Amino acid sequence: MENKNQHAVVIGGSSGIGLATATALHQRGYAVTITGRNEEKLRDAVKALDTAVGTAAFDGGKPGEVRRFFDGLGAFDHLVLCLSGGRGLGPFATLDLAEVRAGVDEKIWPQLSCAQAALPTISRNGSITFVSAVSAQLAAPGIAGIAAINGMLLSVTPILAAELKPLRINTVAPGVIDTPWWDFLPAHQRQAVFSEYGAKTPVGRVGRPEEVAEAITSLVKNGFITGQVLTVDGGLRYAA
Ligand SMILES: NC(=O)c1ccc[n+]([C@@H]2O[C@H](COP(=O)([O-])OP(=O)(O)OC[C@H]3O[C@@H](n4cnc5c(N)ncnc54)[C@H](OP(=O)(O)O)[C@@H]3O)[C@@H](O)[C@H]2O)c1
Repeated sequence: MENKNQHAVVIGGSSGIGLATATALHQRGYAVTITGRNEEKLRDAVKALDTAVGTAAFDGGKPGEVRRFFDGLGAFDHLVLCLSGGRGLGPFATLDLAEVRAGVDEKIWPQLSCAQAALPTISRNGSITFVSAVSAQLAAPGIAGIAAINGMLLSVTPILAAELKPLRINTVAPGVIDTPWWDFLPAHQRQAVFSEYGAKTPVGRVGRPEEVAEAITSLVKNGFITGQVLTVDGGLRYAA
């Protein structure tokens, strides 16, 4: 099978976009390792994948745990950074800027620290794919904080592609995607948000994690793409 000698690691692979990416990569013959903080979620993910994948429970926000994971992993080929955060939403005039800082700590430092810790052992012919968010590309009121957080990944992508070559560096920027990320809302509110965004989105609906996973997988596979931000948002970027 294609890619059968390549090993892909999905940080934040126990849920949502990360789990869908692990599934897609496995189907294409990659050996896959998924990580997350919660061991029970990892066990459920392995059941959902219904195949042998490596797992590791650690907190991407804790540099010691990140270092231990990569030291123990050995050589590998591709890194996908799906771990999430959710802070920084709200009108700028009243936005608690401590939330923006916490959002960077929650999502950006872990993604950057995993990418940095991977460098000694990732294949020079491999790839790193960050997961940002379309909020960093929208001119919509109320998202300055979350845009500032996610925008950091957009900024570093071409720079790291130039600096770390031939290792390929790309970023995917998802729009609104129906994943457990939204579970902080009660079901009826979540549905209302999805309907509202679906109506704004040119394709007429919110996205599925499998659709973002396909985009990530294409960046992992295609050895001629680097330094790119791929937006997967059903066209929301140009319509919101
Ligand atoms: N869903 C959307 O609408 C949407 C839109 C734009 C961008 N995104 C971005 O897409 C990415 C994936 O989100 P998703 O929707 O798939 O979310 P999700 O379903 O909540 O999955 C998040 C994954 O990250 C892991 N994780 C979170 N914090 C972690 C940490 N500190 N260390 C290690 N693992 C951690 C979670 O497992 P544990 O909880 O067990 O750690 C889980 O496996 C995120 O970067 C998110 O910001 C999502």
